[in-house]
Amino acid sequence: MTHIVLNQDLAKTLKDRVIVLTGGSTGIGRAAVELFHSYGAKVMFGDVNDELGKGLATQLGSSVEYRHCNATSYADQLALFAEAEKAFGKVDVVCANAGVGVHADIFAPDADWQTEPSMIEIDVNLKGVLFSARIGMGYLRKNGGGDLILTSSIAGWKECSHLVTYTASKHGVIGFMRGLYQQAWEEKITVNVLCPWMTKTRMVLGIEVGWRKLGLPENEAIDVARAMVICASANRGPAGQSHGGAVSPFTGKILHIAGGEAYEIEDNIQRLEPQWLGESNSAVLAKGQAFLADPHTSWDADAQKTGAQVGTQEVFVSPVHATATA
Ligand SMILES: NC(=O)c1ccc[n+]([C@@H]2O[C@H](COP(=O)([O-])OP(=O)(O)OC[C@H]3O[C@@H](n4cnc5c(N)ncnc54)[C@H](O)[C@@H]3O)[C@@H](O)[C@H]2O)c1
Repeated sequence: MTHIVLNQDLAKTLKDRVIVLTGGSTGIGRAAVELFHSYGAKVMFGDVNDELGKGLATQLGSSVEYRHCNATSYADQLALFAEAEKAFGKVDVVCANAGVGVHADIFAPDADWQTEPSMIEIDVNLKGVLFSARIGMGYLRKNGGGDLILTSSIAGWKECSHLVTYTASKHGVIGFMRGLYQQAWEEKITVNVLCPWMTKTRMVLGIEVGWRKLGLPENEAIDVARAMVICASANRGPAGQSHGGAVSPFTGKILHIAGGEAYEIEDNIQRLEPQWLGESNSAVLAKGQAFLADPHTSWDADAQKTGAQVGTQEVFVSPVHATATA
């Protein structure tokens, strides 16, 4: 892993950039709205908690606007982005942050498995993120690029018993980033994921006391907001400048956030693949992935194009992960 340290000069490049964020009324999203505002950015944020959302927008002034937006509704999200463009002229950064955790374990032995359970975690945490990213890309393209920042969780890559559906939804966010970031980079759009560990918001009220007794590391909401600022500004400074420890281009990254600090972990997961998958498995996998990534390759069984393999590199090395350090 690589410790990533915020470079304040780069963060200042956020001045007058336009941020669209979901789930900004409380917790991490609220801290992010405040932090982006403190760097001079313009923020349009949505949430389902209208009272707290409107209150925050009023408190911060005319460069921050709130609009009711249920992240699970495509129409609501379309309207949120349209409002951002109308108010501020463009969209530069998208933070898909809205999330819910349902603390009743539907896989517990005493759960009523004959009644269809709520899938709200999948709907908000995964479907909502996909909606934000898809609509957001439509706007970022108009500017010739921009940044997508997706909030996953420690549950995005690690076992989290009793939070099974939440874990599936957050793994989905990492899968979504891996599916998208290479093709998005062709349009100068970055896609990065935040994986906060325990962060003191209302979402974790139930475990706070036990956590503290064990002396485990905690984040404040602003620590995760700072990681958003890192992702939103990493590629926007003068050539060669980035945040401490960050490799460029800063896309396809996963930031593990614990004890108030951010650590990039995806580069080494990719770089060490020959070790954990085996060199020969890794090499042949690279060849298959190169074939699939080739723009001439078609998934359409009825319209197969011939010769797709001809132009495919023997070994595909992601330009984004090639420079990862040990
Ligand atoms: N707190 C943690 O320890 C922790 C750890 C890992 C990941 N996360 C993730 O961080 C993100 C923010 O969570 P938080 O900890 O700040 O909790 P939070 O509950 O304070 O914030 C979540 C926000 O999302 C909003 N929201 C919920 N459903 C929505 C919907 N359908 N549409 C729009 N907005 C909606 C809520 O009203 C709230 O303002 C979530 O994606 C969460 O899963 C939190």
